Amino acid sequence: MVKRWVWVVPVMIAFLLMGAQNHALAVHGGKKQMRKAILLVAFGTSDAEAQKTFLRVDEQARKTFPGVEIRWAYTSKMIRKKLAREGKVLDSPEVALAKLMDEGATHVAVLSLHTIPGEEYHELYRNAHLYGLMEGGFEKILVAKPLLSSPKDMDRVAAALLKNIPGRKPSDGVLFMGHGTERHPADAIYLAMNQVFQDLDPNAFAGTVEGRLSLEHVMPKLRSRNVGKVYLVPLMSVAGDHARNDMAGDGPDSWKSILTKNGYKCEVIMKGTADCPGVLDVWLDHLQETFSHF
Ligand code: CO
Repeated sequence: MVKRWVWVVPVMIAFLLMGAQNHALAVHGGKKQMRKAILLVAFGTSDAEAQKTFLRVDEQARKTFPGVEIRWAYTSKMIRKKLAREGKVLDSPEVALAKLMDEGATHVAVLSLHTIPGEEYHELYRNAHLYGLMEGGFEKILVAKPLLSSPKDMDRVAAALLKNIPGRKPSDGVLFMGHGTERHPADAIYLAMNQVFQDLDPNAFAGTVEGRLSLEHVMPKLRSRNVGKVYLVPLMSVAGDHARNDMAGDGPDSWKSILTKNGYKCEVIMKGTADCPGVLDVWLDHLQETFSHF
């Protein structure tokens, strides 16, 4: 009786092992087919004109990375909410990444279309990396740097922007309006950019809406250059709300109004930095660099 059952034991063990092996293949083996994707992440804008800039960025990104799945996300909750009320659904980076994961993307490059590596970029960076830790998720997720991430970036961006002011004579002043922040040390990059502009062109300055480099701070320096006319140019990816109101608005607090009151003739350029091909190239080069790791 015992003898008849002896063969059952090794057979059962063999079945158990095969089962375990099949399980292992299903979960870890059978290497998933590589599927690359790009997520372009901007602060966002609800301005229809400014949205056209993002369309051009999208077009250029598709040309640079043919055949690669390209998605968008906005980091600003306020703008996403505003757009949703108009029936335009824009994802947060987290939702966009969850969708890509669900759809089987294996390698994802995230491009921060922010200007400085500030609060928004670091949040994006941290959250994107968490997506790389999930079981069964992406094999690799990398975040490409925002626009002004190295001295070389600053040189390229400043040179490209200064060449992109139609009608300006060298004797005219230029004041670039960055966003700036009181909450992040990367605000210092705007001070560095001001120096880079100054080195290239003593009549060119950078200021910020919310950072250390306020208009008040810049005015005496502008005064010392004896310029009669000042070009106001956004140092933000798109000419959105800040450009329209704080820079070029007719209200008493806009830079245009304050400078006009101080005797300057103002010329506003309603184009974001992403509209300038030489600047967009810097962002796309960051993305290329990141993408080359896949
Ligand atoms: Co703002």
